Amino acid sequence: MSEYNGIIERYRERLPIGAGTRIVSLCEGGTPLLRLHHIPALLGKDIALYVKYEGLNPTGSFKDRGMTMAVTKAVEEGSRAILCASTGNTSASAAAYAARAGIRAFVLIPEGKIALGKLAQAVLHGALVMQIQGNFDVGMRLVKDVAVRLPVTLVNSVNPYRLEGQKTAAFEVIEALGRAPDFHCLPVGNAGNITAYWMGYREYHRHGLVEGLPRMCGFQASGAAPFVRGHPIDHPETVATAIRIGHPQSWDLALRAQAESGGWFDELSDPEILAAQRLLAEQEGIFCEPASAASLAGAMRDVQRGKIPEGSLVVCTLTGHGLKDPDIAIAQSSAPPLKIEARLAEVERVIAGEIGS
Ligand code: F0G
Repeated sequence: MSEYNGIIERYRERLPIGAGTRIVSLCEGGTPLLRLHHIPALLGKDIALYVKYEGLNPTGSFKDRGMTMAVTKAVEEGSRAILCASTGNTSASAAAYAARAGIRAFVLIPEGKIALGKLAQAVLHGALVMQIQGNFDVGMRLVKDVAVRLPVTLVNSVNPYRLEGQKTAAFEVIEALGRAPDFHCLPVGNAGNITAYWMGYREYHRHGLVEGLPRMCGFQASGAAPFVRGHPIDHPETVATAIRIGHPQSWDLALRAQAESGGWFDELSDPEILAAQRLLAEQEGIFCEPASAASLAGAMRDVQRGKIPEGSLVVCTLTGHGLKDPDIAIAQSSAPPLKIEARLAEVERVIAGEIGS
């Protein structure tokens, strides 16, 4: 059996990588595509519903696919430092891959608006974390300006190598299914990922490796839904802090992915997003962060409405792990921990009451 060493080695011929390039990898990619059983039954619909569980990447989000490429290329080009603005996951991934490469990472994050797990990752991996009193979009403008003034490599998804790496998720979906899905649902923030998946699907299609193409469906939080409004917005707000973005950088590319594929953008309220996160955890045993659940919440609603017809094969990308944001998970749990005495009779009484014996 050949060893798996991450997406660059796996898809080397489809990526802009030279023969002698030193690859910076943490063995990202190769994530599971899981079929859901209980949720389609609850919906009462005949639907083949899958999730691409990107939370199982090394730093717990899909960003690692793009970061292995961006950091590999930065090092190849002689860069000693990388820089990004982030709602959390990009900063965690940048910090980890910079550590792996032996270079520095500088990250700008919106103060008080990133999930605790992500901050923990960035600081422990040794990034220099700058909290700004401004949202992601403000941070994005700042890092773009700094990157032209100082010798640091910008690793947000405006870096083309990021999208090259992220497109490999579409390759994996096709390989796992033996075909393309009918619909691919994603949470959309800065809009790099929907762009990257569409690149990947089209690439396999162009090379005759797959016949069909999915419709790309992008889901945003209602308070941060520039694609649904049709224009950028200045004050995005949502509990799903990962996608609290009003000025997506890949605006044109994402619109093209949606239009070319015959897909759509839509919005979900924060309660709808959190309900989907909890349903997935309770019904299927899969833990994703709130932003990720927007894809599932959107897919479920569109299946229920018939916009996604019965008989369809649907893939939802779960972009980040639920452990990234433990505060939200605990706050919305339906079964908060009981406080009991440390006695056999007490434990027995509680459990017997539950199982009715
Ligand atoms: N889901 C999660 C968990 C994310 O962290 C992000 C983006 C998205 C979805 C949206 O993906 O930006 O490609 O449309 N997070 C970025 C960050 C912005 O800084 O970590 P997108």
